[in-house]
Amino acid sequence: MKVLGIETSCDDTSVALFDSDRGVTANLVSSQVDLHGRFGGVVPELASRAHLVNLLPLVDVLLKEQDLELRELDGVAVTAGPGLIGALLVGLSTGKALCMAADLPLVGIHHIEGHILANGLTGEMVTPAVVLVVSGGHTEVIHMPGIGRYERMGATLDDAAGEAFDKTAKLLGLPYPGGPPIDRLAGKGTPGRFSFPRPLHQDPRIVFSFSGLKTAVGLTVAGLPRPLSEQDVADVCCELQNAIVDSLCQRLFQAAERKRVKAVYLAGGVAANGGLRCEVARLAEARGMHFVPPQSVYCTDNAAMIAYAGFHHLQAGRRDGLDLDSFARAPLASWR
Ligand SMILES: Nc1ncnc2c1ncn2[C@@H]1O[C@H](COP(=O)(O)OP(=O)(O)OP(=O)(O)O)[C@@H](O)[C@H]1O
Ligand SMILES: [Mg+2]
Repeated sequence: MKVLGIETSCDDTSVALFDSDRGVTANLVSSQVDLHGRFGGVVPELASRAHLVNLLPLVDVLLKEQDLELRELDGVAVTAGPGLIGALLVGLSTGKALCMAADLPLVGIHHIEGHILANGLTGEMVTPAVVLVVSGGHTEVIHMPGIGRYERMGATLDDAAGEAFDKTAKLLGLPYPGGPPIDRLAGKGTPGRFSFPRPLHQDPRIVFSFSGLKTAVGLTVAGLPRPLSEQDVADVCCELQNAIVDSLCQRLFQAAERKRVKAVYLAGGVAANGGLRCEVARLAEARGMHFVPPQSVYCTDNAAMIAYAGFHHLQAGRRDGLDLDSFARAPLASWR
């Protein structure tokens, strides 16, 4: 089965092809980082316009590269939400038009299911599992008894983990998005020079809070001589990353033990973080739980994860009509 995936929920325009015999044979991403970087965050209207300009040419390139006609596909999977509504509409309308033109089945995919199933592109997923979804807009723990079955166990009370990386990077004068530079600099920092809070540590619920980190980092940075030295910035990054990783791991394994699962997974852009991957691997091994980190290229937004999720839906006989709507927010619901 050959499934075309389309992802336009935020600031990356991406199209991909998942072939059930060969895996992902194409995953094209046109990044808008340069467009939004100077604003320190994504400007929704600019994102929609850039998707409009980039999406159809990307589909053309993919089909040419793969030597495929549209009608040779078995279906189109498109992110229906959550995300920026204007950006989503560009992908959804394009997906519908392609399906109409070539008489193909259409499936709408929840973006977070895409992030979770990206783990299946590295190797067959072991279930039951608990998944820590850590991205730019989400930080939540999901119990997954099997593919297509999801139960949210808890989430952040304020900022998402990716937001915590991005906002604190801005305070340190680092580029947007902030996760990759903090990840890189954290390795050069001196552990223990600073100390940042691990809020809600005693709370028995599966909850996170990251908004206080911005204040804590802001106060620390304000107390340092200007200009900040490279070592100062690295030391802040090191402890900031440790604080985020500690909070995330505590809840992930609390949830995994509560549900007595065999496996834990990471999903979303922050799953690319080196410190988080190492710590989850260490803790999973100590508990005899299965853990394989997702490939970095499939952590941040990409259409391969959407095509692969679409494959599971189509294989299960799910189809959406042309009345499928986009949505800005909605929890991930089970469909099996
Ligand atoms: N190596 C890394 N370490 C930490 N954070 C990272 C790393 N790489 C990317 N990120 C963070 O991942 C986030 C982007 O992830 P993703 O593309 O999944 O988010 P999004 O699609 O904007 O949000 P959502 O998926 O919730 O809609 C950014 O906040 C970025 O800073
Ligand atoms: Mg995302």
